[in-house]
Amino acid sequence: MTYGFHLHLHVNGKRGVDLLHDPHINKGTAFTEMERDALGLRGLLPPRVSTLEQQVSRVLENIHRKPSDIEKFIYLVALQDRQETLFYRVVMDNIEEMMPIIYTPTVGQGCMEFGHIFRRPRGLYLSFKNKGRFREILTNWPYHDVRIIVVTDGERILGLGDLGANGMGIPVGKLSLYTACAGVHPTQCLPIMLDCGTNNKTLLNDPLYIGHPAERLRGEAYDELVEEFFLAVKEIFPKACIQLEDFGNANAFRLLNRYKDRACMFDDDIQGTGAVALAGLYSALRITGNRLTDHKFLFLGAGEAGIGIGDLIVTGLMAEGMPESEAKRRCWYMDINGLIVKSRTDLAPHHLPFAHDHAFIGDFRQAVEAIAPTAIIGVSGAPGMFSRPVVEAMARMNRRPIIFALSNPTSKSECTAVDAYTWSEGRAVYASGSPFEPVTYKGKTFVPGQSNNSYIFPGVGLGVITSEASRVTEEMFFAAAKTLAGMVTEEEYAMGRIYPRLGRIREVSIAIGAAVAEVAFRRGLTKMNRPDDLVKHVKAKMYDPTYVEYIPKS
Ligand code: NAI
Repeated sequence: MTYGFHLHLHVNGKRGVDLLHDPHINKGTAFTEMERDALGLRGLLPPRVSTLEQQVSRVLENIHRKPSDIEKFIYLVALQDRQETLFYRVVMDNIEEMMPIIYTPTVGQGCMEFGHIFRRPRGLYLSFKNKGRFREILTNWPYHDVRIIVVTDGERILGLGDLGANGMGIPVGKLSLYTACAGVHPTQCLPIMLDCGTNNKTLLNDPLYIGHPAERLRGEAYDELVEEFFLAVKEIFPKACIQLEDFGNANAFRLLNRYKDRACMFDDDIQGTGAVALAGLYSALRITGNRLTDHKFLFLGAGEAGIGIGDLIVTGLMAEGMPESEAKRRCWYMDINGLIVKSRTDLAPHHLPFAHDHAFIGDFRQAVEAIAPTAIIGVSGAPGMFSRPVVEAMARMNRRPIIFALSNPTSKSECTAVDAYTWSEGRAVYASGSPFEPVTYKGKTFVPGQSNNSYIFPGVGLGVITSEASRVTEEMFFAAAKTLAGMVTEEEYAMGRIYPRLGRIREVSIAIGAAVAEVAFRRGLTKMNRPDDLVKHVKAKMYDPTYVEYIPKS
């Protein structure tokens, strides 16, 4: 804010129409009478001054008028580009309604159509065409105190596959959730698309595709690009935590292993998913009435999500005193080629710890009968695979079968909430990846849990930022899972919820942030002095979308 002649003021060097075009500053019709005079806005706005609350109600009216979710998505993206404070107020105060639009499932459709609905860029594009210039490109970003970067190469967007540079919708959406769910300031968030090409033929043939239309880089050329990215970030944004998002499965595991001890980074699809699912399982134990060590898990899908969850379950079982080898034997996997067993010759390195001695089985239902799990966890992107016979078998073998159909978006879910409750005669403890409406079965209403990563990653990021941790560790995700599970209230359990209401997400993120920061201090992962009250410390750093008075009234 610069004070000059009292009727000719600037905010961040801007006045007049430039203010209305800066989404960080723009208040639209909420600029006060004094601001309108002092900032050269008189006449550029309709005469009546609105409050933020009135603007929120106008936005909601407009959203509700939109005929489809994708139209709502386009409207909200435009609002974010126009008036950020208002956008976050709307999202935060209506999180249950807005999350499925700015994130899964609608963001999936947004990505598929990205080149066609594209209006205004957001974030940075690091294309392989600009190799050698990443450092310079990062300096083009207008904000200097970047604390969270979400980066994707677009190879595995949700369960939708390779969407190339169109995948940019995901980092943008995730970072909006960092702000909405955990109060990370918008100017500290940077979405990045690492454009390495795409193998999606439809996109390659689409003249409106926004990425460089070329086949995906592989091997050394790809690795060099990622290395350049990590080095450039370290130099230009040394305090940034990097979240890998929606990378293809082979690269995701490799990159996590390569960089987790070298940089402040994590992979949300592996580690975030692990934590949110483990939290759901801990919660489910309050319904099944036993311990984690009483369970056996059969996964459909042995990719990033599946292995991430299995790894954290092993951590959980070991925390209860189970030896590692036995803990691993509690996790069984079925992938596209069948049950993961030792005799298979087509396994990837991340499968090996979970490849057990057992006869090979090709069919999921037969695997359920043979392994007799207490929980089945669907992370395959293969819709409908939890068929009626599968759910019925689970209900026959278990008093309260745990059925997590986590694939996103909704169309990829292994089974719907209605199917799970109906086929198990109301006994399933069910969670999905994308939201499902409550289900009434034989007069009882069940609220399906949404195993939504946004319960975890914003809080983890908040904890890392506010403790200035140099690394993100497995222990932090374990602490996050325990904290999340501990936050479900008795009232929520009574409705069959295994996660807190999304409306409580800020409260959840604060608790997770404090738990993660606690790990950072305990493990000496930060040079910062430990504040006495971590919850207070974390809370104090959070952004709240309210309007700043540019011209104080007195
Ligand atoms: P991925 O590509 O790393 O792994 C997919 C796995 O599923 C592979 O092991 C593949 O062989 C297996 N698979 C595919 N079709 C199959 C079939 N018909 N039968 C058996 N196995 C099959 O993908 P990733 O990252 O593990 O994601 C998988 C799904 O999980 C996606 O739909 C994704 O949206 C969802 N997911 C959900 C999350 C959540 O709910 N919180 C978080 C992360 C992922």
